[in-house]
Amino acid sequence: MAARPSKDNGFLGSGTLVLLALEIDAKMLKQVLITQPLPNAHLNELAGHCEFSVLSGRQSLASASMRDELAGCHGLICLLTDAVDHSVLDAMPKLQFVSSVSVGVDHIDVGVLTERGIPLGHTPGVLAATTADAAFGLLLAAARRLVEGDRFIKDGNWRLDNPWSPDFFLGKEVSGATLGIIGLGATGQAMARRGAGFDMSVISWTPSEREMPGVESVSIDDLLLRSDFVSVHLALTSTTYDFINADKIATMKPGAVLVNTARGGIVNELALAQALNSGHLYAAGLDVFESEPVAIDNPLLQHPRVVVAPHIGSATTVTRAKMVELAVRNAVAGLGGRRMPHCANPEVYPLTGKHEL
Ligand code: GLV
Repeated sequence: MAARPSKDNGFLGSGTLVLLALEIDAKMLKQVLITQPLPNAHLNELAGHCEFSVLSGRQSLASASMRDELAGCHGLICLLTDAVDHSVLDAMPKLQFVSSVSVGVDHIDVGVLTERGIPLGHTPGVLAATTADAAFGLLLAAARRLVEGDRFIKDGNWRLDNPWSPDFFLGKEVSGATLGIIGLGATGQAMARRGAGFDMSVISWTPSEREMPGVESVSIDDLLLRSDFVSVHLALTSTTYDFINADKIATMKPGAVLVNTARGGIVNELALAQALNSGHLYAAGLDVFESEPVAIDNPLLQHPRVVVAPHIGSATTVTRAKMVELAVRNAVAGLGGRRMPHCANPEVYPLTGKHEL
């Protein structure tokens, strides 16, 4: 809680003191709800700007027990696992900003926020390299059957009567192969650099028409036809939902590998499972699923050459700290009514065009 100025500090006139007290009172009135514990340094920083409460468990914002909390909320700091839909937003009539500790904002009804002129902060850029590392790790693991090999040994199958041989665990060549990148934002670009570093030819298709030196821009059809490895780096929106559908998967190069570290909803999981089972695709590396946590009976989990991870693309200590720091900077700007450093709906700010990512 912010301290009140002392009346006998001998510096400020009484008018200034009243104004200062009013300003601090106004700040104290702002209530921020934080859906996960944050490091103390960040809580201390926020304490200078607002009052806040931190949820201790994994409560759904839509649950009836959250109603009172939401009603008094001026700001929300949330995670990608918090569904902030129309009904949650309706329960927050005082809401002035949302700050998500994520680059993706598909868990939030951005349209409603924008309609209401409420800025939404997110954390692009700081997780790009880390997520591309995870994507490339999945690519290598799927191509070279590393997880299959790990299981093979740990299940006790590597024995003298089941020995090494020249055709043992043959995989797919990465060096010299074509890597197709769908979505050339910061993470797609970081993936392109990793591909080039592994002597791959890199081609891309992106809705923003962004280009990158050394990366050939092609149509989506060409990309799917030519790529030995396809890596998805799009944001999930109503236009990208089910983007990699059965038709697109059917046009992929036979024997290709699909990597997805973006959002599960972009790829049709059933069509992908069918393409793997029929042998049309060689393997897949997936960090994301349409529904998370992924159900244990999801058909993709049955295929030996599907390598999976539990949505951990940005999960390093350093990167998560950077994400929290940026989310808190966005929140502090929101509390002060200033433009957020990274706003996902910049059209809420008058006199500004596109945001500068
Ligand atoms: C991760 O998926 C993120 O959106 O930050």
